[in-house]
Amino acid sequence: MEPVKIGILGLGTVGGGTLNVLTRNAEEIARRAGREIKVVQAAARDISRSRICSTEGVALTENAKEVVSNPEIDIVVELIGGDTLARDLVMNAIANGKHVVTANKALIAKFGNEIFSAAQKKGVMVAFEAAVAGGIPIIKAIREGLAGNEIEWLAGIINGTGNFILTEMRDKGRDFADVLAEAQRLGYAEADPTFDVEGIDAAHKLTILAAIAFGIPLQFEKVSTEGITNITREDVNYAEQLGYRIKHLGIAKRTADGIELRVHPTLIPEKRLIANVDGVMNAVLVKGDAVGPTLYYGAGAGAEPTASAVVADIVDVVRTLTSDPENRVPHLAFQPDALSTLPILSMDDVVTAYYLRMHAEDKPGVLAEITRIMGERGISIEALIQKEPINKDSGATVIMLTQPVLERNMNQAIAAIEKLDTIRGSVTRIRSEHLNSQ
Ligand code: NDP
Ligand code: HSE
Repeated sequence: MEPVKIGILGLGTVGGGTLNVLTRNAEEIARRAGREIKVVQAAARDISRSRICSTEGVALTENAKEVVSNPEIDIVVELIGGDTLARDLVMNAIANGKHVVTANKALIAKFGNEIFSAAQKKGVMVAFEAAVAGGIPIIKAIREGLAGNEIEWLAGIINGTGNFILTEMRDKGRDFADVLAEAQRLGYAEADPTFDVEGIDAAHKLTILAAIAFGIPLQFEKVSTEGITNITREDVNYAEQLGYRIKHLGIAKRTADGIELRVHPTLIPEKRLIANVDGVMNAVLVKGDAVGPTLYYGAGAGAEPTASAVVADIVDVVRTLTSDPENRVPHLAFQPDALSTLPILSMDDVVTAYYLRMHAEDKPGVLAEITRIMGERGISIEALIQKEPINKDSGATVIMLTQPVLERNMNQAIAAIEKLDTIRGSVTRIRSEHLNSQ
């Protein structure tokens, strides 16, 4: 049988890794796919640059459009990134009747609805396993392995760069900027690394996970997003004294009123496996009503871990080349005409526990005032630490853990506490989740 012909757009970290894996494991991959897979053409911005992969036998071009219109090519693998050129190339590839594999979460989160609809009409596949959690086959696990469940919630460390930075800062006391520069050197970070540290990359990935978990359209603009830039060494230490770790999580939860979609630093009890996921590793906890909690762990970024997911998608596409488009696994797990209109909740309507840190004057009655404000809004305190002032002018640090509460009530309580004459500066707030089987 003729080999299946591939065109790769982009030969950077992931493109280079993909070519290496396809070459090194060619025989094993062909045995799985049932056909030989041959990369016939690849595009890069500057084809004279040295690469992490050999490009022997591959026609190189600096004009990516040549690849998507090359009649010889069956599958276009988009590994350029961004959502402008990549969007045009993917839409053109689909219009030309080519299957598409991509690692581009920004593209899928923002334009996936239009891309899948075009692919559906044209009878081609768009596969995107590498877009979420690097090498972990989390899309396949949720879309296929958990297809019998109603998914109740999922929570994941889904940005490798951010987790690498937090781990190095905590374990080695390294400087934020220094660790970020290393993540960039290692090829973990996005072209614009603010996407990693401000939580945008995690929000792209959460958008995709929520769509396939709950059968809702992709709604990136509705994700509430906070990054890791405000996490201080002080909060990391206090969290540890209370038996917690701070991790940057993406959380999607089904509630009676709608869906919570949020990305933010989160305190997690240190005994949870996910609290001990360090470095560039990612992990996603998924709770299904039938299976209970399940945990998926692996490298969240990097050349070959991501290539592992890209190549798995290529094999999947090759295996289905002969199957009828109507009988393929739907792009977003649920049949396109069966997507749900469940609303996405505003952060005011989210229920979660909190870690609070504030500076108070060391006077009698201050704590009573704070607890009165909390009590009036139905907020129960689970733990409270008051640190002795370093000197008579420095004030005392008060740290609290609360029971779960409506975020609207917590916002009101924080505003009232910050107005007290005895409180200095603003209150630091980090959300906290127990992530147990409930
Ligand atoms: P890189 O920056 O390493 O690679 C991008 C590639 O695209 C480069 O080879 C570049 O060419 C090429 N390119 C850029 N512009 C053009 C253009 N106009 N025409 C042709 N080629 C072009 O990015 P990554 O490999 O890190 O990321 C690729 C995608 O994979 C992104 O969507 C990213 O979000 C995603 N991803 C990345 C992961 C990672 O660990 N890095 C993990 C999971 C997903 P040249 O080399 O000549 O500059
Ligand atoms: N920049 C991303 C990360 C790459 O660090 O997780 C993997 O999607």
